[in-house]
Amino acid sequence: MDDRPIGVFDSGAGGLTSVRRLRAEAPGESLVYFGDCLRAPYGGLAPEEIKRLSRRNARFLRSRNVKAIIVSCNTSTANAMAELAADNADIPIVGTVVPTAEAAVRTSQSGRIGVLATEATIRSGLYERTILGLRPDAAVTSRSCPKLVPLDDPALRAALEEDLAPLRAARVDTVVLGCTHYPLIEEAILDVLGYPAATVDSGAACVGSVLAALRDRDALADPSHEPTEQYFCSGRKDDFLAVARGFLGRSIDGLTQEMDISAI
Ligand code: DGL
Repeated sequence: MDDRPIGVFDSGAGGLTSVRRLRAEAPGESLVYFGDCLRAPYGGLAPEEIKRLSRRNARFLRSRNVKAIIVSCNTSTANAMAELAADNADIPIVGTVVPTAEAAVRTSQSGRIGVLATEATIRSGLYERTILGLRPDAAVTSRSCPKLVPLDDPALRAALEEDLAPLRAARVDTVVLGCTHYPLIEEAILDVLGYPAATVDSGAACVGSVLAALRDRDALADPSHEPTEQYFCSGRKDDFLAVARGFLGRSIDGLTQEMDISAI
């Protein structure tokens, strides 16, 4: 048994999709969340900068004594996972892409799978490689969506029309929400796509992997333990809290602190 918290990070509030799933699947686990809101979005940054920021986020979580890390950011996973795994080889650390690709392959009947993600995630090619590794006859249609984060309501539909056109043309039956912010706009995505399709929530898909890794090490929390939740963001606290309410359906205002991690 290990009662220490599970750490979760994202460039912003999108990683709360993992928190939502974690609370539902393992309500007895404590957690520490970090959203690097000040530097978001990561999606247009160069790989070296994404690596630097992601490694620092993980160091911050380690400074809070976490027993495992969920990299609940596809952009960090696709560009920095090797470095994150090397830095944190002593604890379980899971990213979004492999469990999400596995879920997409399990879900898709036709093998025609669409991937929506940030520029840096699509540029890495990791989703496509992972899906094809699991199902070589799959047809993957990937689309980078630089206009979707930050989510800008008036422009959203127009951006989605453009982003979904290739997925619609390919008649995908499964859409990977390859950025942890996209579940907030899932309804609009399906509406613009124009026909029924399955979606895979990347923030939620990775939670089972971290719990399985902890179970294997006998490191889940003691059921009698009183779980705690702590949330940190590097800036834009009000925006973070507003999005958090959308994802979690409750207020975490009293549990959230602004934290400058630039010296870590
Ligand atoms: N939430 C991040 C992801 O899953 C991306 C948002 C950003 O561009 O910062 O990729």
